Amino acid sequence: MIPLKNLIAKSGLALVAGLLLAGSPAVQAQDAVAGKAVFNANCAVCHSMDADVVGPALKNVHERRGDEWLTKFIQNSQELVQAGDKDAVEVFEKFNKIPMPAFGTSLSEEEIKHVIAYIKDESSKTVEAEAAPVAEVTDATATPPAAEADVAFLDLPPVLLFTFVLAALIMLLTALVLVMMFRLFIPMLGDSIYDEDFRSSFAGRVLFLLKGDTTVMTGKAKDKIHSTHDFDGIQEYDNDLPPWWKALFYVTIVFGVGYMLHYHVFKTGALQTEEYEMEMQQAAMFAANNADDPNAVTDYEVLTEAAALESGKALYNTNCAACHGTEGQGTVGPNLTDEYWLHGGDVNEIFKTVKYGVPAKGMVPWQGKLTKDQILEVSSYILSLQGTNPANAKEPQGEKE
Ligand code: HEC
Ligand code: HEC
Repeated sequence: MIPLKNLIAKSGLALVAGLLLAGSPAVQAQDAVAGKAVFNANCAVCHSMDADVVGPALKNVHERRGDEWLTKFIQNSQELVQAGDKDAVEVFEKFNKIPMPAFGTSLSEEEIKHVIAYIKDESSKTVEAEAAPVAEVTDATATPPAAEADVAFLDLPPVLLFTFVLAALIMLLTALVLVMMFRLFIPMLGDSIYDEDFRSSFAGRVLFLLKGDTTVMTGKAKDKIHSTHDFDGIQEYDNDLPPWWKALFYVTIVFGVGYMLHYHVFKTGALQTEEYEMEMQQAAMFAANNADDPNAVTDYEVLTEAAALESGKALYNTNCAACHGTEGQGTVGPNLTDEYWLHGGDVNEIFKTVKYGVPAKGMVPWQGKLTKDQILEVSSYILSLQGTNPANAKEPQGEKE
């Protein structure tokens, strides 16, 4: 038996073709129009033209794969995957092995042809926001990763940074201990170190410097008046700088070299402007999180009024049944009628799962597409399905509650 809408579509087509004698372009356009309805009803929950949602972006997919492949894939993608088709296996694995539902029984070949015509038609258009709700999701998810991508220094593994700092500290401490031990042993060297020859040798200078005697650096005695520095009777000693001061000075030189290498040669550090931008970005991310924080605690109560549940049921049938089954028995998504939950079975937990989704596992985030009230209605409807034991129920997943 041919479905009624098919007949109408077909006769409509024949009429247009016959009346206008317009040939293939008109037929194609007509196919695309019919395809759009099929697409929105069956595919839009998981696909958009320009962005990966649950399934891949479909723009130009006909150029990647032939029409015949597309028809087979839409009819039963798993059959292709199991037959070992290279492209099908590749795309299946790329999308976390989320199987696409088979449309071989629910859609006629004609309808699949229309939907392919629609995809071709859309691909030939320039970027256009199609299927508004889906486009919104891509917007919402696209911004944060882009922002994160710029914060490059965060990508360095913290373990590595920590190891560097630890190694530097250990080296510094070892050096300090060595110097202190060396100073302790100086008296044991006896008077021989005061020998003039030794004193003026390199080792001697280092030794006396460690003892705190700076005269070895210039060979001059302490507290001698500088002969040429006499300003209106004010005279000046020609003393050496204190060793601690010099040591600090040398440290600044070493630091300066390190600083220059770090910031200007290897460019491993962020300069001020960059640092400022990073902070602003983090602040923006922080503010965005605050406005709609997934961890915020909610205290919703399950709705029990018939009207709310009726509305929840309608929402469920249009938005969720494709993946959770018409009775909540579970298909792509888990069974929602048993006592086992992956993400918690309290109404607030369900609300959160529905609102933010589990994009990595194929559960769509519904915020922006459903209002808060709608999400609460559909969550309450799901809970009203508890214990209904539908036929073909999917095996339990998660923890019993
Ligand atoms: C429940 C979610 C879901 C629905 C509904 C869905 N798809 Fe998919 N689709 C996927 C996933 C996931 C993949 C990734 C590959 C796989 O599952 O094997 C995919 C892959 C595809 C591919 C292959 C893309 C490529 O790059 O090779 C095409 C074509 C496709 N889908 C078309 C459709 C059409 C047409 C419809 C509607 C009739 C539809 N899909 C409905 C989830 C879905
Ligand atoms: C494109 C397919 C898809 C659609 C559409 C979808 N879901 Fe899901 N849903 C999933 C998948 C897959 C999971 C499992 C996620 C996981 O493994 O973590 C899931 C999980 C869930 C869970 C958590 C179940 C548990 O055991 O904790 C709830 C609740 C849920 N979905 C409700 C909904 C509602 C309500 C809608 C409609 C507004 C909906 N889903 C639409 C695929 C879908």
